Amino acid sequence: MSNPLRQCTLDELRRRTSAKWRVHPGDVLPMWIAEMDVPLAAPVAEALHAAIDAGDTGYAMGDVYTEALDGFAGRHWGWRVRPERAAIVPDVMAGVVEILKLITSPGDAVVVNSPVYPPFYEFVSHMGRRVVEAPLTEEGRIDLDTLAEAFRTGAGSGDARGPGAGKAAADGRGAAAYLLCSPHNPTGTVHTAAELAAVTELAGQCGVRVVADEIHAPLALPGARHTPYLSVPGTERAFSLMSASKAWNLAGLKAAMAVAGADAADELSRMPEEVSHGPSHLGVIGHVAALRHGDAWLEALLAGLDENRRLLSKLLERHLPEVGYGSHEGTFLAWLDCRGLGLGDDPAAAFLERGRVALIPGPAFGTGGAGHARLNIGTSPEILEEAVRRMAAAV
Ligand SMILES: Cc1ncc(COP(=O)(O)O)c(C=O)c1O
Repeated sequence: MSNPLRQCTLDELRRRTSAKWRVHPGDVLPMWIAEMDVPLAAPVAEALHAAIDAGDTGYAMGDVYTEALDGFAGRHWGWRVRPERAAIVPDVMAGVVEILKLITSPGDAVVVNSPVYPPFYEFVSHMGRRVVEAPLTEEGRIDLDTLAEAFRTGAGSGDARGPGAGKAAADGRGAAAYLLCSPHNPTGTVHTAAELAAVTELAGQCGVRVVADEIHAPLALPGARHTPYLSVPGTERAFSLMSASKAWNLAGLKAAMAVAGADAADELSRMPEEVSHGPSHLGVIGHVAALRHGDAWLEALLAGLDENRRLLSKLLERHLPEVGYGSHEGTFLAWLDCRGLGLGDDPAAAFLERGRVALIPGPAFGTGGAGHARLNIGTSPEILEEAVRRMAAAV
């Protein structure tokens, strides 16, 4: 199968009407939000066309998504998804919010590993929980000592941003929950089974509930292996959110799955019925087709992303040798350490203003984000090369 990242021209992409292509003016090269520059995988397109042709546009049915996810998880990770422990949700972040509502109370501390996907701050603080940061190490790994401190005190070591966040004073209760990003956005870290086992042991000791956002799970690149969080022994009280949305570029087709560990199924069953009304039927059809019949496409994508991450290393070496990029193990996101460029806390501002290329500003990802920017490499080698050329021109 040919590389899906080499199939769309810039002219074709600019005709798209999604956020990636409409937020910035037409002279800006968009390398920011997590949409990929790929056509739909053929099995997904065929399933959606068939549904439209048949007028199959009624309400969604969650069971087929559970079955498809179970099949994919079994083939790729040797892990099974039990229907009695799964619930359909509109998307991953809606699922995160609903699960946190089930297992935490207003004012509770929710730990995140900064720098991390910005909505982790907004969504958690908007529901009245306190975001507490346990920053990753400089190498992007989970720092167990920092995590233990955050779990035990319910106070972070970083300077959390956003309403409701901040260096909240410890209230003596410790943290209630831990929102794990696995694989990690923006660093692309694929947490190892051993790291996840250590996290699980710590969470058990501290009575902290773990919610794993595994939206990037199918995107472990060659050399890395994703470990489904609920396959780790001791995760019976934890939850996972999974979706085909990132790996097959289906963000506009709303659907995702919440999965509970064996001892958390009762809690998941208390999720309000209205949550299951959010996913779209066409979303379920698209995601199910991807999970059932999208393996070959995914394999070709992963090979293309592997090429792109090597290309990015070469391009940075040639045009921007001061930028730190330790490659990444998973996702289509590259986390660039631009502190050597002298562009201040927000290098993406200079890239945008002077280079006309849009990256996501590092500070949006919380503590550890200053001086960094996130670059989306889910695109063609030509566009990636043009992006780095524009970044270099801005310096
Ligand atoms: C870690 C992570 N979680 C959640 C999302 C958003 O997922 P959804 O659109 O299903 O809410 C993203 C999107 O990029 C993400 O990177």
